[in-house]
Amino acid sequence: MKIIIVKNKIEGGKKALEIYRATLKSNARVLGFATGSTPLTTYQELIKSDLDFSQIISFNLDEYVGLQADDPQSYHHYMEENLFKFKKFKTSFLLNGVAVDEKAEIRHYDQLLEKYPIDLQLLGIGRNGHIGFNEPGSSFNERTHKVGLTESTIKANSRFFADEVQVPRYAYSMGIKSILAAKQILLEAYGSSKASAVLRMVQGPMTTACPASILQTHPNVTLILDEAAASQL
Ligand code: GLP
Repeated sequence: MKIIIVKNKIEGGKKALEIYRATLKSNARVLGFATGSTPLTTYQELIKSDLDFSQIISFNLDEYVGLQADDPQSYHHYMEENLFKFKKFKTSFLLNGVAVDEKAEIRHYDQLLEKYPIDLQLLGIGRNGHIGFNEPGSSFNERTHKVGLTESTIKANSRFFADEVQVPRYAYSMGIKSILAAKQILLEAYGSSKASAVLRMVQGPMTTACPASILQTHPNVTLILDEAAASQL
């Protein structure tokens, strides 16, 4: 893993922009995006940049089950507000949180991921080491699937909701196998609440107890960390 340590998330966003610039230059056509508070400064840099995404296809890692695309807490809405309304993409694929036929939705997403392999996947990391809602205990072999969120993730994400009861208990995730299929992975982590997960991801044993530890096996991973997130390394 290549580790870049930055002063803060603003600087992290600027480093991430350099990576996006190089990736697009090398003819990348498919980008995988993440949500949460971590990638916000990266999206701000992409928006301010002169990068042209009009020929780029995008995927998102995950979506809450039960939330409509226009629900202010959905990841559809997040992407619209934080990137898509400022930058035009060719097509953007996100999982439909209110799909009536869940199995068909999952199958369809897997087919799309197979048809358009991801060149660069952006990731955050949960405090418990989850990536893209693949919680501790998730199989490393799973593609798109429905996941039950852990109490710790529900608590951590309740800050975006009026109260904890409103946080959905399930989500769809593209799965660790799909994440690992990306040619390049960029993971950002900021703040001391991520330090222990970062340590386990980088130096810990490879175990489903820390899903992010599987990234040790991927040949092209870059981590952008601030000093607090890197403090236990
Ligand atoms: C959610 C998202 C993850 C994200 C994680 C960390 O669970 N589904 O993709 O990495 O939160 O969020 P934050 O960046 O807000 O700390």
